[in-house]
Amino acid sequence: MEHTERFKASKSSEGRYRMLVDAITDYAIYMLDPDGIVTSWNPGARRFKGYDESEIIGENFSRFYTEEDRKAGLPQRALKTAEREGKFEQEGWRVRKDGTQFWAYVVIDPIRDSAGKLVGYAKITRDLTERRKAEAALRESEEQFRLLVQGVTDYAIYMLNSEGYVSSWNLGAERIKGYTPEEIIGQHFSRFYTEEDRQAGLPQKALETASREGRYEREGWRVRKDGTTFFASVIIDAIYNPDGSLLGLAKITRDITEQTKAARALEATREALLQAQKMEAIGHLTGGIAHDFNNLLMAVQGSLELLQRRLPDADPKVAQLLDNARQGAQRGAALTQRMLAFARRQELKLVPLDVRDVVQRMTNLLQSSLGPSIRIDAHFPVNLPKINADSNQFELALLNLAINGRDAMPKGGSIVIAAAERTDVPGLKAGHYLCVSVTDTGTGMDEETLKRATEPFFTTKGVGKGTGLGLPMVHGMTEQSGGKLVLKSTPGQGTSAELYLPVAPDETASVAKEGAPGASHTGKKRQLSILTVDDDPLVALNTSALLEELGHTVYSAPSAMHALEILRREKTIDLLITDQLMPDMTGSELATRIRAEKAQFPIILATGYAELAPGEGEGLPRLAKPFSQRELAEAIARAVIPDAPRRTIA
Ligand SMILES: Nc1ncnc2c1ncn2[C@@H]1O[C@H](COP(=O)(O)OP(=O)(O)OP(=O)(O)O)[C@@H](O)[C@H]1O
Ligand SMILES: [Mg+2]
Repeated sequence: MEHTERFKASKSSEGRYRMLVDAITDYAIYMLDPDGIVTSWNPGARRFKGYDESEIIGENFSRFYTEEDRKAGLPQRALKTAEREGKFEQEGWRVRKDGTQFWAYVVIDPIRDSAGKLVGYAKITRDLTERRKAEAALRESEEQFRLLVQGVTDYAIYMLNSEGYVSSWNLGAERIKGYTPEEIIGQHFSRFYTEEDRQAGLPQKALETASREGRYEREGWRVRKDGTTFFASVIIDAIYNPDGSLLGLAKITRDITEQTKAARALEATREALLQAQKMEAIGHLTGGIAHDFNNLLMAVQGSLELLQRRLPDADPKVAQLLDNARQGAQRGAALTQRMLAFARRQELKLVPLDVRDVVQRMTNLLQSSLGPSIRIDAHFPVNLPKINADSNQFELALLNLAINGRDAMPKGGSIVIAAAERTDVPGLKAGHYLCVSVTDTGTGMDEETLKRATEPFFTTKGVGKGTGLGLPMVHGMTEQSGGKLVLKSTPGQGTSAELYLPVAPDETASVAKEGAPGASHTGKKRQLSILTVDDDPLVALNTSALLEELGHTVYSAPSAMHALEILRREKTIDLLITDQLMPDMTGSELATRIRAEKAQFPIILATGYAELAPGEGEGLPRLAKPFSQRELAEAIARAVIPDAPRRTIA
């Protein structure tokens, strides 16, 4: 039925319009008479406003307005405006039948007859609620985003147009670069680059890369308004219009100066730690080797000495060979001493030392070791405090450094030995130090050599020329004395080795204790019963042989327990000579056990190196391994003073 009616209506033009209007559901299209009474109604109007045609025709259109709008006379005014101006157009809230509201876009057109008389109004209304909501949401999100970007202070976020002129500026940009938005918007971004980078065309390259590839990322130095620089991480992103054309460039810059610094510092610390660990490991290894070597050398040296004596009338050729062997063993002993010094296992006798005196005493030695082409100067301030150091080791260190200087100056040059007071040296305990420096005008060292110079066995002097143990010895000695060695070198200019050593705590208090009274008795021979303890049979054998040759009666024990047994059994024993480091009980522990019963019993501690923990074996006379027969005899004389009140040892 509908179908045929429509078909009929479509025959007339009025009917066709009617059909059109009736088909429209997205717009409310209806007519009003001149007073605003609804005279027609379409499905769109029904859909938006909720009224059926029968309910609404004959009603005034003002009911579609809100209460306030009605009170304000808006409906009448709308009609008046339409009549007067030929059109009324507005957006506003309208009311549905169920009382709910919607946001409407309204157009009212006056309708006139052919004579121009007003016959009514055509009214078209559209529901824009959804669009309005979407627009509001968009506005809100844009505003939020703007506030977000604006408020970020850790990142400079700003826009450049396609030519690189600044078009927006956030708080972070202001904070990091120092410009206010007024100062910088409209300026070219190349001003943030350093002069060199600008000259190298970096800003332009960045812009081109970002435009071409959509993104540019780099780290580099940038300049603030005040001219200071900072290390920046920069990202430039190209922003395109929906049609694909370039709208501009978003630039995000972060100040990473601090992070970069921190990262570098961390890297340096890690490297230093690695180096320290390496040295520590080499130290252990070297110390261990040197310890075993020391014992072997002792056996060799001792046996050679005995051999030499027992072959008094040997043929001069044999004597010569023996002598060579002994010298070799001595050189070996000197080497192991350097290794032990590096491993910080040298037994140091720390005494107050006047550096000026030491250097003066050494002048002849130095001059003859260095040769005439090297000039030696000493610069010391008038009041120089004494240092706390081992006299022999300190002299050895100076000699090593001076010889290194000589080797670096094959054509001659000068060496300056100087000293200066320092407090609070970085890397050392707070306190008072003396910096003793040996400076040459030689070849200097490149970075790699300088880094490795204190490693044991590192040498650039070629096989047979350098052992690579000179600086390690100096390094170990200073560290063991509570100081440190610092090397400074410039290739082609020279090298300066600085020994930082602690100033003696109370220069007057400690006067060398070791020594004189016993020494004068060395000559007096007395036959003793001596017990030696050593877990190393080679060493034990050697010591016994040396002692027997001196005319003493010797008992030998391979361990502390055995020694105690022998002591209990043999009441005639006058003296104990014990090794320190032994498996079950150490030499100093053994001494404590013996002294618990016989407080005055003479004991000599033979140690290859500083095997003693602080406080251990204190007061016991020491004998440094390897020892010669003469050193052994002297130690015995000091420990057992015949015909004199026994030395109080404790
Ligand atoms: N004053 C210096 N000038 C230039 N290079 C030096 C200087 N001192 C040390 N070196 C470098 O450091 C390396 C190690 O020095 P170190 O004293 O430890 O051993 P060495 O001198 O080679 O051997 P040794 O001291 O046993 O004769 C040297 O081979 C040399 O390359
Ligand atoms: Mg050297």
